[in-house]
This record gives sequence, C-alpha cells and structure tokens, in this order.
Amino acid sequence: MVQLSNLINSLPPFHFADAKKRIEEKQAQGVDVVDLSVGDPDLPAPASVIERLCETAHQPINHRYPEYRGMHAFHDAVVSWFQRRFGVALEPERETLALIGSKEGLVYAASCVLNAGDIALTPDPYYPVYVSAATTIGAQPYMLPLREENRYLMDLDSIPANVLAKARLLWLNYPNNPTAAVADLDYFASVVEFAKRHQLVIVHDMAYAETYYDDFRPPSLLQVPGAMDVAVELHSLSKTYNMPGFRVGMLVGNATLVDAVARLKSNIDSGIFRPVQYAAIEALNLPEAWTIERNAVYKRRRDLLVEGCNTLGMRAVAPLAGLYIWARIPAGYTSREFSNWLFDRIGVFITPGSNFGPAGEGYVRISLTTPDERIAEALRRIRELMAA
Ligand SMILES: Cc1ncc(COP(=O)(O)O)c(C=O)c1O
Repeated sequence: MVQLSNLINSLPPFHFADAKKRIEEKQAQGVDVVDLSVGDPDLPAPASVIERLCETAHQPINHRYPEYRGMHAFHDAVVSWFQRRFGVALEPERETLALIGSKEGLVYAASCVLNAGDIALTPDPYYPVYVSAATTIGAQPYMLPLREENRYLMDLDSIPANVLAKARLLWLNYPNNPTAAVADLDYFASVVEFAKRHQLVIVHDMAYAETYYDDFRPPSLLQVPGAMDVAVELHSLSKTYNMPGFRVGMLVGNATLVDAVARLKSNIDSGIFRPVQYAAIEALNLPEAWTIERNAVYKRRRDLLVEGCNTLGMRAVAPLAGLYIWARIPAGYTSREFSNWLFDRIGVFITPGSNFGPAGEGYVRISLTTPDERIAEALRRIRELMAA
C-alpha cells in the first residue's frame, strides 16, 4: 500500500484537468461539446517561431543540457521586449529568469517567500495556483474579495492588523483572471506603497499582458518607481504569442527573489530546451502589429459574447484586456448549477465563477479561445434552452 504525504492529500485536483476529463467523457457519448472553459489559445503560434524551433532543433549543440537560468540571448530578448513594451530597464542576468511557463514561477516564488504559518494575501476570485502554492508549504491564504463595485480591485485598507502582522506575500493579477479587470498605474503605485509599509513581497502575475483591446495597453507593476524593491512580475509566452504548449515564460524584477527562484529551480529542473528558448526569442522580437492583428480576432469574439450574454440576461461588460468574459448568471441558480445545467443539457461548457473562490459565486467565466462560429453555436443552444 502506498501511503501518500500530507502535502499531496491537501491538494485538490486541478480544476481544468478535471474539466478535460468530463469533456472527453461527454464526447465519447457522441455529444458535440462547445468548450468555452479553458483559456487555451486556439490560434497558431507565429510561423517564424515554429521555423526557428525546427531549425535550432536540428543543431546537436542544442540537444545538450541547457543553461539553468536561461540562455543569455533569451535574457537579452526579455530585456529589449520589456524596454519596448513598458519603458522599464532590466538587468539581463540579475533581473530576468527563464521559466517553464509562468505557472511554476508562481509556485516557486511563493516557496521562496513564505514559511509555514505565514499569510498570503490573495484576491478572490483567484487563479487556483495562488492558493495551492501557499497551502502546500503550510502558509494560509487571506482572501480579498474583488467586487464589481470596486472595479475588481483589492481593498487593501480592509485587512485587519493581526492578518497584516503575519502576511508576507501579496498576489496581484491584472489583467485579471477570471474577472478580466484591469488596473492602472495609480492603483499599482498604491499597492507598492502598501507593500513597503507592511514589508510584503508582491508577486504580480501578468500572464494576460498582451491580450488587450482598443487603445488600452496593460501597464507593468515595475513601471512604478521603486516597485523592483519589493516586487517580481511573471510573464508568459502562452497567451502572449499563442504558445501555451511550448511551456515558456519569465520571471522579472527584484534580483534577490529572482536569484532565489533560480536556486530553487536548479535543484528541481534542468532548464528549458534551447530550441524553445530560440522560438521564444523570435516571438519576443515580433512587431506589435502581430499582437494587434491577433487581438482583433479575440475582440470580435469578445463582442459576440458580450452581446450574446446581455441578450440572454447574463449581464457582461466588454473587458479591455484578458481572454475572458465574466458574466452574471440568471437568478435561481448557483454558478455550478448553471454551468452543469448547460453542460448536461446542451453540451456547452463554461466555468462556474465559484471555481475561482467564493466571491466568484453568481458569475461564470467564458473563454475567448473558440472560433466565432462555435461561439454563435453555443449562444444559439443557450437561447433555445432558456426559451424552453
Ligand atoms: C492568471 C494565470 N496565471 C498564470 C497562468 C499560467 O500560464 P503559463 O504557465 O502557461 O505561463 C495562467 C494560465 O491559464 C493564468 O490564467
């Protein structure tokens, strides 16, 4: 008999792994499922990125172990991208680190900051990894509800003094998953000031930095003067360049924490296949026009869904960034009941807001990573079901 550890017994199954299984079971029954749940870009990675991946994969030098912290050329590409996009100067070797996707960076950053018994200030609703990253090391999340009336910004002044005394880390995530809310530099400046006052480390998850609409450009927390004293930021090639399967991202910011994460990682993994890093460099050097063109596709889907939801009485606001519509559910259901009802009756899969924390109750999250005609099909099925 295999006895499992307290750590693994404390972890719930990852929601989206579970969701994939449910969808496969439904498809095996012959149902044509419309999956609007996961934020898994359906558009292809840029052609030049794939070419670079293939070309460098043919070179035997790249079959050897890669550099632990990432190639110098990768760091340089991150630095130029950051300068171009945010006007922030980073030191390539000290303030950037290559990651196997940003998800692992969240876990490692938390492990480098938190001890058992500490508190991690956590937005609610939240990306589930913020909570598992804290609880697996015996730290506790303290939830800060993101409310529509506060534009889904955390109210830091509401935190009791006894919580603040034990808090070490503050998770920040704008553009936000799941609410698609955005924050401006004034808000970021107030968060940095708060973190300094209470000796907190900020981990800003910017996985959705480059899915933006209209004239909006999400700012980096590191644009706030002095932010680098207390903060790191996570970026990812996944949503940014349609490369979720490549597994590549980066941690940037505070050199002490970047170095700590590099130390922890070098004890656990052995870096990223160099051709994947070459592919990422190619992507980071693409002109902004590529991003704008790609985002036009998401914007069309966004508008289709927002209009469709509002027509169905599921109030939704068009987000300025992110990959999701955060819509109100009709009265008389919990989020989970509503989501299950759609899935069981018409094979449309959307994520209950409550999967992201108690403050997500009353909402559903709908992903933009499905083509227009499938979105139209989902809306048609929902309309018919509701009418019946
Ligand atoms: C808020 C947020 N952060 C981080 C990630 C992880 O992205 P990746 O590991 O692909 O970079 C995701 C993925 O969905 C996300 O939604």
